[in-house]
Parts: sequence; C-alpha cells; structure tokens
Amino acid sequence: MAEAIDKKEFKRLRKESEKGIWRKYTRLIFKAKLPWKWLTFLVFLNIGSMQLSLMFPQYAQKVSAGVLTNEVIFGTVAVIFGGVLSSGIVRYFSKLTMYKVDISYRSLIWQRLMHSPLSLFDSVKPNEMVSRTANDTSTLSSVVAGLLPTLVGMVYSVYYIIDVLFGYDWRLSLGLIVYTPIYVLALIWYGKWNYRTLKHTHNRLASLTQFLSELLVSIPLIKSFNTERKEEKRGKENLQKYYKASMRQTIINWIHTPMISILTLVMDLFVIVFGIYLVSNGSITIDIWIAFFLYVGMYFGILETFGFMFIQLKESQGASSRIAILLESDLEQYERNRSVEDTNRNLVFDDVSFGYGDTKVLENVSFTVKNGSKTAIVGPSGGGKSTLLALVQQLYTPSEGTITYGDAPIGDYHLTDWRRMFSFVAQDSPLLNGTIRDNIVYGVDREVSEEEIKEAARAANALQFIQESPQGFETHVGETGANLSGGQRQRIAIARALLRNAEFLLLDEAMASLDGQSEQAVQEAMEKLMEGKTSIVVAHDLSTIINSDQIVLINDGTVEAIGTHKELCQHSELYMQFVEYLSQSSVS
Ligand SMILES: Nc1ncnc2c1ncn2[C@@H]1O[C@H](COP(=O)(O)OP(=O)(O)O)[C@@H](O)[C@H]1O
Ligand SMILES: [Mg+2]
Repeated sequence: MAEAIDKKEFKRLRKESEKGIWRKYTRLIFKAKLPWKWLTFLVFLNIGSMQLSLMFPQYAQKVSAGVLTNEVIFGTVAVIFGGVLSSGIVRYFSKLTMYKVDISYRSLIWQRLMHSPLSLFDSVKPNEMVSRTANDTSTLSSVVAGLLPTLVGMVYSVYYIIDVLFGYDWRLSLGLIVYTPIYVLALIWYGKWNYRTLKHTHNRLASLTQFLSELLVSIPLIKSFNTERKEEKRGKENLQKYYKASMRQTIINWIHTPMISILTLVMDLFVIVFGIYLVSNGSITIDIWIAFFLYVGMYFGILETFGFMFIQLKESQGASSRIAILLESDLEQYERNRSVEDTNRNLVFDDVSFGYGDTKVLENVSFTVKNGSKTAIVGPSGGGKSTLLALVQQLYTPSEGTITYGDAPIGDYHLTDWRRMFSFVAQDSPLLNGTIRDNIVYGVDREVSEEEIKEAARAANALQFIQESPQGFETHVGETGANLSGGQRQRIAIARALLRNAEFLLLDEAMASLDGQSEQAVQEAMEKLMEGKTSIVVAHDLSTIINSDQIVLINDGTVEAIGTHKELCQHSELYMQFVEYLSQSSVS
C-alpha cells in the first residue's frame, strides 16, 4: 500500500517538474541571437525538397496507368534525381546553420559564465559546467537548426498528402485520418518512455564521468593511502550502474522498430484489403490505388520521423533545462550609482551575517578598518576568515547587515571600480595556465616594463627560482600552476599583487607556504608595500600580527575579540592560546 502511494506521489512530482517545460523551452530557444535568415532559408529549402518527393507518387501513378508521354518520363526522372539532390543540399545547409546556432548558444553561455556571481559556481560543479557548455548546447542547436525547419516541411507535407488523398477516394482517406491519432499517441507514449530512460542513462553517465575525473586528480592521495582497491571497487560499481541503465535503454530502442512495423502494418492491411475491394467494384482504378498506397507509405514515414523528433525534442528539453539554469540566473551588476573617487575612507562591517547556502558561516560580524591601517584577522581554520575577504571584494553578498565604505554601502560602487581597489593574494594562490610572466602581469591594466616585472619578482623573493628555471620568465606553470611548488606559486601571486600596487591589500595567509628564510624576505617586501596603505591580512605569523593596528579574532563565524596585541593578551583567553601555539610552532 505504502508503495502505491509512493508511486502516485512520484508521478505527481514528475508531472510538477514537467509543468511549464514547453514555455521555458521556447523562452530559452529565443534567448540567443539566432541566424534567422539562414533558418528561414532552411525552411523553404525543406519545403522545396519535400515537394519534390511528394510529386513522385503522382508520376508513378501516370506511369502505371500507361501514360508514357515525354513529359511524364522526363518528370519522373527529374523528380527522382531532384529528390536525392535536394535532400543532400538540405543536409548540408542544416549542418551549416546548426554550427551557427551552436556558436551563438555557446558564446552566450560563456559570456554569462564570466559575469555570473561566484555562488553559481558553488552550486554547479566544473565538470558539469563543461558538459553543459559542450554537450547540452549541441543537443539544443541540433534541434533548433535541424528539427524545427524540418517540422515545418513535415506539417506542409502531411497537409498536402491528406489533400491529395481525399481527391483520390474519401473512404480510404477517412480510414487513414481515423487511424492517425492512434498511431501518434503510441509514438508519443513511446517517446516519453524513451525520454525518461534516456535521462536516467544520461545521469548515470554524468555521475560516472564526475567520479572518474574527480578521482584522477586524486591519484597521489589514493596511492599514499593505499586505497587503490577501494576506489577500483567504487569505480566498478559506478560502471555497473551505467551498464544497467544502458542495457535498459538498448531494450527500449529495440522495441521501437517492431512497434512501428506493427502499427504501419495495420494501416497497410486496411489500404490493401479495402483498396482491392474498391478496385474490384470499380470505384477506383488500379493506378490510383498504387498512388494511394505510395502516399500512405510516405505519410507514415513522416509520422515516424515526427515520433523520432519528439524524442529528440524531449531530450533537448533535458539539456535545455540544464542550460536554462545558466542562462536565467542573475548576473553580477557592474554598473552602479557611484564610482570610487576617494580611496581614503573607512571600511565598516556592520552586523554582517553570511552563509554559503543554508549553513551560516559568519554571524553578526562588526568591525572597522580605518583608512591607512593594518588589520590582522586571526583564528582557527574554518572560522570564516577567507569568507570575510571574499565579502570585502563583493564576490558574495552578505545575507544580513551591511558593509560600508565612506558613507555608502559597498554595493553602491561600480563593481569594476571596486575590485580594482584591491591587491589580493588568495590562500591557495591559484595560477592560470601560461608562463610565469603572464601570471605576474595578469590583471594589471597598464603598461609594465621588464624592469618592473623583475623588481616585483625580486621583492616577492621569486626572482632567484625564476632565473634558475631553464626558460626564466617564459617558463610554463602548467594547469593551475601544477608545475610549481606551493611556495613558488605563492611568491608569484605576491609578485602579482606587488605589481598591481592597489590602494588596498588583502592577503590571505600569504606567507603560509614559505619557509623561514624566504618568509622574512617577503615579509620585508610586504611591509614596504603596506606602508601608507590599508590592509586586511589573514595571518598566522606572530610578527605580522603584533605589528598590526588592530587584530580581529574570528572563531566559528563570530568576532571573539578585537583590539591590539596588548589588549587581546589581557582580555582574550583564546587569543592567548593562539599566540602560545604560534610561538611554539615557529620555534620548532
Ligand atoms: N565555496 C564554499 N561553499 C560552501 N562552503 C564554503 C565555501 N567556502 C568555504 N566554505 C565553508 O565556510 C566555512 C568558512 O570557511 P573559510 O572562510 O574558508 O574559513 P577560514 O579561512 O577561516 O579557514 C568553512 O566551514 C567552509 O567549509
Ligand atoms: Mg582561509
């Protein structure tokens, strides 16, 4: 009983999720700039090509009636060759248009991705993002450029055929019309069934790909922890699930042919038996009957293609609903009321709360970063320090409370202006695939001399290792900087920040992967850089912390204590523990 209810509920949910899907679908299709001229051309090309095929039975009828005039013979040959030729031309232009549509969707998606807020990338995994831009768009464009123009041609043909058939004999035609809904309904039912299985297979494949690509980057971890066998087993399980889904899909695909054959056979029998009866009692001639038979074959051929298109259409709906999330999500607003004219203001966190999704990460955080001062953020890991720096750069927006700069919320400033204000060194110092030089000058929008680049590298204590690499500044860093060590990456990120030389510095554990010696050298460069500038530094080294104007101790998303080193030593137990821990670890 319980199972029956579950099934009902499941059906209801499925209906719910499919509601409005056609409307959403058409909205999505028209979102990109489509090559309308090409599409229109394709529609006419399709109709023309169909028209040629549609004329064939009429010539066949004349030939079988023994009318062998030059015009008939020439016409028959022309219709046959024209049909073959034109279907080739249609295919060629379909492909051409499809690529045009494809490029159009892909550029649109790419453009949207670049301007989407970071939160979108938290909810959609990179692999999935790739599959959306690659596979889903091509599914969609093959429908838009391939199916839709064909559909117009098909509707035209069906209309044409029915019109001609009624001219031949109304009783046979009526039988055909009555039978059509049965045929179409069967096709639609099958199409839906097929679509659901396809979706299931698609999901299985997606999770398999996800699994494999995630594991492949963790090979060193797997080897270190001897988990090869365990992962092998998990992989096999995933493969097995995919295999089962594919098998089911194959069976369903297989059913298609016998189903169509039986459905067509019923109608064919009707035309044959009833047709012969009509011929024998003289109601129609045999050549009419032949033409009729040929047209019925074409008619069902078209309906069958329609069924096939229906499956493709449903499939592309799945693809489109995944793309729709990308195309209909909010974009970052770059143009706003204010430009940042004066950079000598205070940055104030006022009762700020924030969470990624539902879990709260920061709660009621308040503090002020005075212009020209140095603020150190300290605290246990996972407390929300990096998140704080993300909020400052407006990578995310607080869910409650405000961050103000001068007399306005930071959300009022032009976003590009705002982000230009900062030199940021991220915790994991990600690099882009390219050379060391590309990475140092990345995002610096002024001309920089060779000397300046060298100077920045020297100050970041990176010059030595760069010059020791065989290609110097032209050394390729590999994907996300994989060819370099953590410390080297960090120093390049620091050199980039130095070169950018913005008014406001945001450093997220910038010294974390440096050894004692390079740390000291870089520290000096940073101190010099910070002079007279405003900075927020997430730090784990005592000297940076002690030298700052204020220290904000963040624990578990809340501000535990604020003050100078001296003040915190007097008031905060946690801070004392923290300092103790740091001094011990720096000795060892
Ligand atoms: N992009 C994200 N999506 C979801 N949760 C996140 C994300 N980034 C960080 N978190 C979570 O937010 C909390 C604070 O993280 P973070 O600001 O990086 O802390 P800290 O820098 O102090 O170590 C952690 O629990 C972390 O798991
Ligand atoms: Mg962090």
